[in-house]
Amino acid sequence: MTRPRKVKLVEVGPRDGLQNEPRPVAAEVKIALIHRLADAGLPVVEVGSFVSPKRVPQMADSAAVCRAIRRIPGTAYPALVPNRQGLEAALDCGVREIAVFIAASEGFSRRNLGCSIAESLERIAPVAEAARAHGLTLRGYLSCVIVCPYDGPTDPGRVADLAEHLERLGCAELSLGDTIGAGTADAVRRLIRKVADRVPRERVAMHFHDTYGQGVANVLASLEEGIAVFDSAVAGLGGCPFAAGATGNVATEDVLTLLDGLGIETGVDLRQVAETGAWICEQLGRPNASRAGRALTAARE
Ligand code: HMG
Ligand code: MG
Repeated sequence: MTRPRKVKLVEVGPRDGLQNEPRPVAAEVKIALIHRLADAGLPVVEVGSFVSPKRVPQMADSAAVCRAIRRIPGTAYPALVPNRQGLEAALDCGVREIAVFIAASEGFSRRNLGCSIAESLERIAPVAEAARAHGLTLRGYLSCVIVCPYDGPTDPGRVADLAEHLERLGCAELSLGDTIGAGTADAVRRLIRKVADRVPRERVAMHFHDTYGQGVANVLASLEEGIAVFDSAVAGLGGCPFAAGATGNVATEDVLTLLDGLGIETGVDLRQVAETGAWICEQLGRPNASRAGRALTAARE
């Protein structure tokens, strides 16, 4: 399979990145972060989630953030929506792109969503239908596609079944999440081949967490399987409150360094992303998890 010539990066820093931050992050900081990322040329910036504020307090101000952001025409600003209540809230503040999310393992589904996989499919069906009626762009996330922290290894056949189900519900894009970052290149290749038997590769996005340092290698393995959409977070921010020990997403700066080196077009300015990475780490008082981000900051200084 030849590598794609162009890749779409979905920046999930403001959502996946910040949802797990232990200290509250001011809405102004989130808004500035979203502006900086979109200005750097990222075509999709995930802005927040409309979930239970008791379960994920850090995302409780997503409505305020969505109302305040300045939108660049042509850039997408999606948000996560778990149910009808979340959809109504998202519509109320002008969100036009939403993502539903389910798990490929029962253990994670229970912890993350408080229900079984079958129940979660029932819950998102009316959300997908309403999204269609409102003309929204719909994305579907599948978590724990390689390993679940509660149930162990995930059967790729089950991931393929669920990916097909999400596509039939109307998801234009399916993001396959290695939630705890335990995947390695060959497991990623096997998974993509299995899923591609059931849904077109063009609809598949990969979402790697970098817990074991395999994020960039897994992106390369996916590129070689013809995948052209990747989720990443500036400065490698992030983690999931329901997957203890998992670190942030593969860093946008690290993925861009790989893609720029391969001559793959993204339309994103690596230097601007790296500056944003250094800035947000300063704001959060945390170290920069991006190797490329640290190197570029050191070179600038
Ligand atoms: P629930 O608690 O199981 O049950 O919610 P519920 O539906 O009975 O709701 C309980 C309370 O939540 C009620 O309030 C509801 O009003 C409220 P109370 O009566 O107790 O005051 N509630 C809501 N509030 C605001 N917005 C809503 C909403 N829905 C209910 N939309 C639910 C089910 C799924 C909502 C809940 O379990 C939840 O919010 N879970 C959080 C899931 C989450 O955000 N996880 C992180 C994102 S997923 C992820 O990170 C993985 C990903 O990155 C890919 C990867 O890495 O694999 C995408
Ligand atoms: Mg994630």
